[in-house]
Amino acid sequence: MDILRTPAEMTAWSGARADRGRRIALVPTMGYFHEGHLRLMRMARRHADRVVVSLFVNPTQFAPGEDLDRYPRNSERDIRLAGREGVDALFMPDAGAMYPQGFQTVVSVEGLSRHLCGASRPGHFAGVTTVVCKLFHIVRPHCAVFGEKDFQQLAVIRRMVRDLDMGIEILGHPIVREPDGLAMSSRNTYLDDALRPSALSLYSAIGLARQLAAGGMVSEPELRRRVRAHIESFPETEIDYVAFVNEQSLEAADPVDEATVLALAVRVGGRVRLIDNGRLFP
Ligand code: PAJ
Repeated sequence: MDILRTPAEMTAWSGARADRGRRIALVPTMGYFHEGHLRLMRMARRHADRVVVSLFVNPTQFAPGEDLDRYPRNSERDIRLAGREGVDALFMPDAGAMYPQGFQTVVSVEGLSRHLCGASRPGHFAGVTTVVCKLFHIVRPHCAVFGEKDFQQLAVIRRMVRDLDMGIEILGHPIVREPDGLAMSSRNTYLDDALRPSALSLYSAIGLARQLAAGGMVSEPELRRRVRAHIESFPETEIDYVAFVNEQSLEAADPVDEATVLALAVRVGGRVRLIDNGRLFP
């Protein structure tokens, strides 16, 4: 596996392969790999001849006071895991290489970025779309893989690619879960055993909503009340949002229907913010 640390090296690497007719897939990540990341790499492999993984903890998508400084990092382990997955190139730039002195351009998807996580994390999605746009220009992939765990991020990136005619195929990978149902996340390392049942309330809330909807409850306020009560019945849970939204527009859905996704963000134990989502009628 080749490890590249500057945008120029990365672009040259990709250009040489693309010139030989190779199809290139990119998997953007912030590292601290878990099985979810590894599955994205395997999906990329099925759709391309060469797989590039980027590993960059992007400072511009963290607001002041968020967990940028304590975000988990272990690049030695990540290099080992990516190598074992047969990744062809790992792009690991430092912040100075991505945002040199004088950097001042922002790529922002206006509407979709305002809902859900965008409301509680102002500027977050502009940070994501700016860095992903840069990664697309640096790597010039034919396709890129993103997880449905970050359902709004996936919608925002699909919109950016369409709006800016980027011509990159965006592939979504289903949420990868722990055996008990918890959606895998690098941030799960912040959870201790005592918080686990509260963390699992997001997944069980999706199950509850599905059961209620299948039983005929399609009123959004009623469903939302039941889901909120379920999550709040667990200790140390603080709801950021419980939203039933159209999977494409991210607008509130009432009554809910086949195109509705339940999206959740909950702070657990005061400091760990967890997100999860699921279609209401899977
Ligand atoms: P990160 O949180 O490292 O996630 C990298 C990719 O892995 C994202 O596409 C995310 O949706 C996916 N992923 C994470 N956990 C998953 C799970 N349990 N199941 C399926 N997919 C999962 O998302 C980011 O990094 C950044 O915002 C990034 C896109 C790299 C831009 O900086």
